[in-house]
Amino acid sequence: MDLLVALLCLLALYPGLAAAAPSCPRNVNITRGTFTLSNGWAPGSLLIYSCPLGYYPFPASRLCKSNGQWQTPRASHLTKAVCKPVRCPAPVSFGNGMYTPRLASHPVGGNISFECEDGFTLRGSAVRQCRPNGMWDGETAVCDRGDGHCPDPGISVGAVRTGSRFDLGDKVSYRCSSNLVLTGSAERECQDNGAWSGAEPTCRQLYSYDFPEDVAPALGSSLSHVLGSTNPAQKKNRDLGRKIQIQRSGHLNLYLLLDASQSVSEEDFCIFKDSASIMVNRLFSFEIKVSVAIITFASQPKVIMNILDKNSEDITEVLGSLEQVNYKDHENGTGTNIYQALRSVYIMMNNQMQRLGLSSMAWQEIRHAIILLTDGKSNMGGSPKPAVDDIKEVLNIRQKRNDYLDIYAIGVGKLDVDWKELNELGSKKDGERHAFILQDAEALRQVFEHMLDVSQLTDTICGVGNMSANASDQERTPWHVTIKPKGLETCRGALISDQWVLTAAHCFRNAEELSLWRVFVGDPNSLWGKEFSIEKAVISPGFDVYSKKDQGIQEFYGDDIALLKLAQRVKMSTHARPICLPCTEEANLALRRPKGSTCRDHENELLNTQSVPAHFVALNGKKLNINLKMGTEWTRCIQVVSQDKAMFPNLTDIKEVVTDQFLCSGMKEDDNPCKGESGGAVFLERRFRFFQVGLVSWGLYNPCYNSDKNTRKKAPLNWVPPPRDFHINLFRLQPWLREHLQGVLQFLPL
Ligand SMILES: *[C@@H]1O[C@H](CO)[C@@H](O)[C@H](O)[C@H]1NC(C)=O
Ligand SMILES: *[C@@H]1O[C@H](CO)[C@@H](O)[C@H](O)[C@H]1NC(C)=O
Ligand SMILES: *[C@@H]1O[C@H](CO)[C@@H](O)[C@H](O)[C@H]1NC(C)=O
Ligand SMILES: *[C@@H]1O[C@H](CO)[C@@H](O)[C@H](O)[C@H]1NC(C)=O
Ligand SMILES: *[C@@H]1O[C@H](CO)[C@@H](O)[C@H](O)[C@H]1NC(C)=O
Ligand SMILES: *[C@@H]1O[C@H](CO)[C@@H](O)[C@H](O)[C@H]1NC(C)=O
Ligand SMILES: [Mg+2]
Repeated sequence: MDLLVALLCLLALYPGLAAAAPSCPRNVNITRGTFTLSNGWAPGSLLIYSCPLGYYPFPASRLCKSNGQWQTPRASHLTKAVCKPVRCPAPVSFGNGMYTPRLASHPVGGNISFECEDGFTLRGSAVRQCRPNGMWDGETAVCDRGDGHCPDPGISVGAVRTGSRFDLGDKVSYRCSSNLVLTGSAERECQDNGAWSGAEPTCRQLYSYDFPEDVAPALGSSLSHVLGSTNPAQKKNRDLGRKIQIQRSGHLNLYLLLDASQSVSEEDFCIFKDSASIMVNRLFSFEIKVSVAIITFASQPKVIMNILDKNSEDITEVLGSLEQVNYKDHENGTGTNIYQALRSVYIMMNNQMQRLGLSSMAWQEIRHAIILLTDGKSNMGGSPKPAVDDIKEVLNIRQKRNDYLDIYAIGVGKLDVDWKELNELGSKKDGERHAFILQDAEALRQVFEHMLDVSQLTDTICGVGNMSANASDQERTPWHVTIKPKGLETCRGALISDQWVLTAAHCFRNAEELSLWRVFVGDPNSLWGKEFSIEKAVISPGFDVYSKKDQGIQEFYGDDIALLKLAQRVKMSTHARPICLPCTEEANLALRRPKGSTCRDHENELLNTQSVPAHFVALNGKKLNINLKMGTEWTRCIQVVSQDKAMFPNLTDIKEVVTDQFLCSGMKEDDNPCKGESGGAVFLERRFRFFQVGLVSWGLYNPCYNSDKNTRKKAPLNWVPPPRDFHINLFRLQPWLREHLQGVLQFLPL
């Protein structure tokens, strides 16, 4: 994974024990589980237990006190630590229907079914299963008659509701049964827009945490279940703030607050730091106007990067200062003062407001997102709420401006997190969640992907793919198109602007039938995409598959490149966007390279090792993996071509077939493209953006025998000739691309 390269954390090895210091006893084993120590057996060291999936540790952690004794949270004695089986809470009350089975709590894998009385319609999930994190899958089941101004807000599992009238201004309140903690809003009011204020309450086990996939629907358009379909008036409610909006115009201020207090181990702090750098990298990858403030805090906050600093808009500066962040900065005050941390955000905001002027557009249009990476255990400075109130005041957050502020409270790592505090801190918005507990930085990356709303990003920014585990194949590779020249084999291609498609020349034999050709481009409303006809096709005149037949080369694919101009411009969306073509200004921005970079610089950056991981898109839309061989590895890669006696009977010089126009892949674990995948992009990822370095042209082995898109057959190990695939190297076809794309893309000097 590229990701690992970006990680900043290098944990110091645990220092040896000083001879005289008391050390804590080592009888802390946990049955079935494991533990980590933040500083060996020395005083101050934090021991954290973990258990296999479906179990949770009790106790979760212990602290080595200065007297050499373990302090165990909650339990008073030093009991033996155990991994207990996770259980899901049982419903406490359920209106206008019944459920089975009735147990005090449910084992992982167990189900509950819900049914409604006559006259009521079931909304949400009729059957729910208990998952290994102690949370039910699906959504709260509600039996609703649809006769209120607002839909029946339901009673989530483990909760008790007070209030059963759902008319304008009616209030309902919730509490959780013992041992469960409420997240979301404890009180909600039926608003005139037909929606309930706040966020749906959920009763959680203290030890529960989130899977990234849970967070997706929670953040995403789960409005449908919250608002219900019973009251059409609610459909209008679309002005809710929900995600971090990515817009080319406008400006986003992101405030990253990293908890460095004692309850967070240095290791967890490192995960916070890595998570922060992942978020920063991803945000800047959109080329939007964003400023990032960084604050670490324990007893006192420390401002690492101020939002007023011009450098807060510069990714290199921001990442650089993130690298300077140090857990030890807070060694002399290891309490947790979230109030002061938020207060320092407020001060920055206030200063910026004064600088820009309260009523200026420049100030009014800034969106603010605060992300607190913490375990939530505030123990100094009192409640953080007054600081949040001040922030809302200075930003003038009213119903209309609700989406100008989002506060996310996120626990990452094997922390013992205080859910209640986390919930207090996060924003409460209908159909959304702002408080999460995740197990690692990768899970946070997934969540962050879902926090981004790119629907406003309607210009032709290149190489932006959705990296969420939940995204559709087309959303992951929105440049990918399918080409259907009449009567011939289907090919693939890539959008390189909002009107041009790059593909292979061998897909087309007969340019006269242009009017019959079709290109299918991604469309959110259709599985197959939107169909475009072609205004103009430019097929490289150098391409002639039989040009070397008299040398015993049955087929030759030099200059296998073509450009199609679509009859209309493609409307940009998360399903349709161009890929970045190297050697252009657009790609230079995406690579965040200095102005004045050359095509050669791009080649050196993108094809920089002997084996470059890259991808192509399969017939079924999945992204497959290859390794492009460069330098001496390239020479080794192309060698086997001479073993193909059927195609190349009398071959004396391999380079007659594989000229330097071709990239080579297909060795070892590589996937091999099928025939119909020709013309598709060969691309790689840098800094969360995608760059096309080649296009699929020909190969020695076809892994797709029949028309079934989902079966590919790997070649047996002793197959002759061994599989190899050749792709047109776009760096070698620059003159041709420049000639035909002048005015479409802005090219850099060679
Ligand atoms: C704890 O477990 C480890 C490995 O399982 C074992 O080597 C060690 O002896 C155990 N310690 C005690 C005090 O039981
Ligand atoms: C719960 O339902 C799922 C799917 O409906 C089923 O696979 C599973 O076996 C059920 N679990 C139990 C304990 O019955
Ligand atoms: C995300 O994926 C999960 C599991 O595959 C699925 O249940 C859920 O509905 C998906 N959510 C969205 C927003 O697509
Ligand atoms: C903590 O206090 C010690 C002793 O006063 C001092 O030497 C050290 O620099 C302080 N550390 C920090 C990060 O301020
Ligand atoms: C990715 O796709 C998910 C699910 O469709 C969506 O919620 C999210 O906003 C998308 N993110 C980006 C950056 O495109
Ligand atoms: C290839 O070699 C065979 C035998 O050596 C010869 O008969 C044939 O004509 C050659 N073909 C070409 C195209 O040179
Ligand atoms: Mg703390």
